[in-house]
Amino acid sequence: MNNFLDLCREAIGASHVITNEADMASYLVDWRRRYTGRAQAVLRPGSVEEVAALVRLCVDAGVPICPQGGNTGLVLGSVPDLSGRAVVLSLGRMNRIRDIDLVNNTMTVDAGCILANIQQAADERDRLFPLSLGAEGSCTIGGNLSTNAGGTGVLRYGNTRELCLGLEVVTPQGEVWNGLRGLRKDNTGYDLRDLYIGAEGTLGIITGAVIKLFPRPKATLTALAAMQTTDAALKLLTLARQQCGATLTGFELMSQFCLELVAKHYPQMHAPFPQPYPQYVLLELSDSESEEHAMAMLESLITGALEEETIQDAVVAGSIAQSRALWDIREHITLAQADEGKNIKHDVSVPISRIGDFIHETDALLADRFPGIRMVTFGHLGDGNLHYNVSPPVDMPADDFMERQHEVNQVVHDSVHRFHGSISAEHGLGALKREEIKQYKSAVELRLMGVIKDALDPLHLMNPGKVL
Ligand code: FAD
Ligand code: MLT
Ligand code: ZN
Repeated sequence: MNNFLDLCREAIGASHVITNEADMASYLVDWRRRYTGRAQAVLRPGSVEEVAALVRLCVDAGVPICPQGGNTGLVLGSVPDLSGRAVVLSLGRMNRIRDIDLVNNTMTVDAGCILANIQQAADERDRLFPLSLGAEGSCTIGGNLSTNAGGTGVLRYGNTRELCLGLEVVTPQGEVWNGLRGLRKDNTGYDLRDLYIGAEGTLGIITGAVIKLFPRPKATLTALAAMQTTDAALKLLTLARQQCGATLTGFELMSQFCLELVAKHYPQMHAPFPQPYPQYVLLELSDSESEEHAMAMLESLITGALEEETIQDAVVAGSIAQSRALWDIREHITLAQADEGKNIKHDVSVPISRIGDFIHETDALLADRFPGIRMVTFGHLGDGNLHYNVSPPVDMPADDFMERQHEVNQVVHDSVHRFHGSISAEHGLGALKREEIKQYKSAVELRLMGVIKDALDPLHLMNPGKVL
């Protein structure tokens, strides 16, 4: 008889304590299906009190906790290690929208709310919650906050951190910190909220949040522009910023090879141009005046860029369906890459002005060391954030290539470091990058992170093996 699990059953109900291998399977494997962890149980609490009770039981029994939202994370943060000692604490049942305040422009939500449901709830009240990413149909706001997710709206609205005013957290001791304040100004000591955001479940469990709402734009327009080089894409970014200001809400780069991969695995999704171009930019404008106003701005930008030959071709979506079709191409790159087989992913940022140089220099270094490799480069160009991914040469077995992952990472991340960039722009460190980060963060920064971890989670039960 496992006393610890019996106490968990008593605390949250036996049906919410999963121990059966088959039922646990989807909680233990990461989204890319590259790694499967082990756990003694998956616990599915239904309230903050139940989360706190479970944490206290884990403390008493010395059981490590792996918090999990939608399990869409890409850095092995949401799956437990191989010891089998941990429990996965899934927030999936905590999916209530608690309150919407249309004057304060805030929404208070349970951490397990699916992002798309939050977007929809905002839309129904004529508001916008601007966090947007390919996994929005299954990721949760608790996971978004814990990874400080970025996505496609950062250029205008900021990362998840900028979208959050307050948090409710269960501490590693099983206390509840109610910081659900909807305040835009609050300078009353250390900012605990900002400490928990991006902590990847290593400092406590986020159970609720107050998030910011924005006016819903009157018109949203999408265009796809084709160009020869990433330098031209950067030139278009400068033009778009000058001419469209805050109306510019999306600026996503995709190489021709990304589009080829998407068309291969999703044949209905292809670029609407008669010929291929090396690079493409997906642009989004969100206007608070009218569709006519936005269209005039977009057409002027595109006509000017065509005339000065910054871009070679462009299409403007004429309907919501056409806009969706363009965004579908962008959002299916990750899926197409996964369908294609094993590859090495990077999520890097460098100062926007250096992106062109970073790509040229790093492409050349990689081509020299790994002849025939195929670059799958795309991402949030407007934020200086690239998904600089590497696929094996066509004639090399993927497993042979994956054995050289460490070498590939070293070339890419050393280059990022030389360009004063970050080796994780938006996905976090998880278990995947926790060793590597030690090469790039200063000893002082690593020491301070360790001090914070020791102070808040002295037993190191919160998501061990991740981040630090
Ligand atoms: P999970 O994967 O379950 O967990 C992520 C991390 O947060 C883990 O460390 C976990 O322990 C911790 N955690 C989860 N919930 C809690 C909680 N309540 N309290 C404490 N810790 C918690 N990311 C981007 O930033 N930008 C993108 O554009 C983007 N696009 C994506 C597209 C696809 C197709 C996929 C599969 C992923 C994408 N991601 C992106 C990565 C991922 O979706 C995000 O990181 C997302 O925010 C994770 O949310 P989740 O609920 O799935 O969290
Ligand atoms: C994206 O921007 O699509 C994501 O961050 C996912 C990825 O890197 O594949
Ligand atoms: Zn991304």
